[in-house]
Amino acid sequence: MQSQSRRRFLSSSTLFGASVLGAAALNLHPSITQGATASPVPKNKTRTLGSGDHRIEVNYGMGLGCMGMSWHRTFIPDRKAMIALIRKAYDMGVNFFDTAEAYGPWRNEELVGEALAPIRKKIILCSKFGFNIENGQLAGLNSKPAHIREVVEQSLKRLKTDYIDLLYQHRVDPTIPIEDVAGTVKDLMKEGKVLHFGLSEADPVNIKKAHAVQPVTALQSEYSLITRDPEGEILKTCEELGIGFVPYSPLSRALLTGYINPLTKFDPDNDNRDTLPRYTPEAIKANWPLLEAIADFANQRGLTLAQVSLAWLLAQKPWIVPIPGTTKQAHLQENLWSSDFSFSADELKQFTDKISSIKIVGARN
Ligand SMILES: NC(=O)c1ccc[n+]([C@@H]2O[C@H](COP(=O)([O-])OP(=O)(O)OC[C@H]3O[C@@H](n4cnc5c(N)ncnc54)[C@H](OP(=O)(O)O)[C@@H]3O)[C@@H](O)[C@H]2O)c1
Repeated sequence: MQSQSRRRFLSSSTLFGASVLGAAALNLHPSITQGATASPVPKNKTRTLGSGDHRIEVNYGMGLGCMGMSWHRTFIPDRKAMIALIRKAYDMGVNFFDTAEAYGPWRNEELVGEALAPIRKKIILCSKFGFNIENGQLAGLNSKPAHIREVVEQSLKRLKTDYIDLLYQHRVDPTIPIEDVAGTVKDLMKEGKVLHFGLSEADPVNIKKAHAVQPVTALQSEYSLITRDPEGEILKTCEELGIGFVPYSPLSRALLTGYINPLTKFDPDNDNRDTLPRYTPEAIKANWPLLEAIADFANQRGLTLAQVSLAWLLAQKPWIVPIPGTTKQAHLQENLWSSDFSFSADELKQFTDKISSIKIVGARN
C-alpha cells in the first residue's frame, strides 16, 4: 500500500472506530431487559444448520460469539455491560449464542449462563468440551467419555440450565476414537442433557466417522476472507452429509475490520493473537493489500469492512452461519446488518478473484 493512502486508511479506521465506540457507550445503559420477546426476524433471514431431526434454525443466519467478553481479546469489559449486551442481542432477534468450557476457562460459560437464564428456553445455547483444565489453564486435550460426562454436568451448572442445545467437541482428541465421542454425546442426548451434536476443526474422516454414529448438526471451524482452509474437502463433506458450517473468528479476530494495524498491542496475558504469526506487525503490514481490497469494495457499496467480510461468508453457502464476537452493541448491529447485503453473481466472482490473487503472509496458528 502506498504510504499516503495507507495513512489515510488507518486514520479513517481510527476515526470510524472512535465514532463507533462513542455510539456503543451511549447505547450500553445498565438497565436489563428481562424476558422480553425478541424482535421478529423475517423468515428469509433465518438459516438452517444440519438436517432432518438434527436441524437448528438460526435468526439472521448469524450468531453471537461470546468468548471475547471474558477471554483472549485483551480487555475484559464490565460484566454487567456484557450481560446487558447478550440480552440486548436477544431483543434484536439473535437466537444463537456460542461459548465453551475452555473460555476463561469457565468464566465465559458463567457469564453467558447468567445473561441467558431469563430467556433460556427461547434461544439456542452452544457450548464445547474437549480439554483438561488444570490450575485455571488449558492443559491438553481430553475427550475421554467419562470426562465428557463430567464436563457436561459442570457446564450445565455454569450455564444455569438442564440442557445444551448444541454441544461441540472443541478439538479432535487423537487418543480417543471419534466414534466413542459421538456415542457418548448420543447417550447424553438420550438423557435429554444435550439436543444436538457438533464438531470443531475436525477433518473429513473424523466428520464422517462421527456422523455415522450420531448425526452432526454443525462443524465449527475457522473460516474468513483471510483463512479459507475449509474450502474444498471440508465444505464438500458438510454439503454431502447435510451438516451446517459455523465459521469461527469470521472477522479474523478483528483483523478484517480495519481496527487492527501494525501498532496494535495485544495483552500477552489475555490475547492469543500475541502468539499467532498472522498478527505480528510485519504480517499485518504484508497483508494490508487484502484490507485495501475489502475497503475498496466496502466503500463502493456503503458498507463497512466487517460487513463485507460477513456478507462474503454468507454468500458462500446457504448453510453457513458465522458467529462474530463483539463486546459492543454498535458492532453487533453493524454485523447483523451484513445479512441485508447480497452479492450479485458477477460481483461475488470479481471480488473473490481479487482477494484470491492476494498472497497471505503468516500462518493462522
Ligand atoms: N471453535 C473454536 O475453536 C473457536 C475458536 C475461536 C473462537 N470461537 C468462537 O467464535 C467467536 C468469534 O471469534 P473471535 O472472537 O475469535 O473472532 P471474530 O469474531 O473474528 O472477531 C472478534 C473481534 O472483532 C471485533 N469486531 C467485531 N465486530 C466488529 C465490527 N463490526 N467492527 C470492528 N470490530 C469488530 C471485536 O471487537 P469489539 O468487541 O470491539 O467489537 C473482536 O475483537 C468467539 O466468540 C467464539 O465463540 C471458536
